[in-house]
Amino acid sequence: MKFFIDTANLEQIKEAQALGILDGVTTNPSLMAKEGITGEVNIINHYKAICELVDGDVSAEVIATDFDGMVKEGEALAALNPQIVVKLPMIKDGVKACKYFSSKGIKTNVTLVFSAGQALLAAKAGATYVSPFIGRLDDISTDGMNLIEEIRLIYDNYGFETEILAASVRHTMHIINCAKLGADVMTGPLSAIEGLLKHPLTDSGLAKFLADYQKGN
Ligand code: G3P
Repeated sequence: MKFFIDTANLEQIKEAQALGILDGVTTNPSLMAKEGITGEVNIINHYKAICELVDGDVSAEVIATDFDGMVKEGEALAALNPQIVVKLPMIKDGVKACKYFSSKGIKTNVTLVFSAGQALLAAKAGATYVSPFIGRLDDISTDGMNLIEEIRLIYDNYGFETEILAASVRHTMHIINCAKLGADVMTGPLSAIEGLLKHPLTDSGLAKFLADYQKGN
């Protein structure tokens, strides 16, 4: 299972990278705005900075919502660095743009996916990644995990190579349940990743080991 961090915060990206478990980064316009990164030039420079910090894929989202605009923006983003994955919204022109980029060998991430049907279309269009938003489904009393399960079943039925990138992950149990269901990738905040470290028996066990060592020395 690949671990992506879902942020545009360079310090958090560095911290996850230093842990040695990071496979990539996802961003979106809201995450960029949260870090105060605005304007085309600053956003482009920020993507370049992120690519320098990590070895893996970095999803960069287009703002255009029409086919020509998405192609123009996506090609410019992809030209920045081979790590860039063009992130496209799950709308009609997004599907067309996904097909366009996949036929050119440019990596894509189809985002804002909330149904199995949408995920099927993304796979048919040759998406590298499909991003079902599990946290946002949970927010409206719909079990996000069911969607991961459905997409896994459908993709396995036909051998689709599109990777299931569980997005809108909010906490550790999302990560663990996604791993159980066979999501290929999860993207979440540093807090959810670091949450996996925590266990009180680890802390108390380590404290006892150290105390016993001190007694004998
Ligand atoms: O990966 C998608 C993500 O950025 C959305 O997360 O927490 O805003 O639903 P959230």
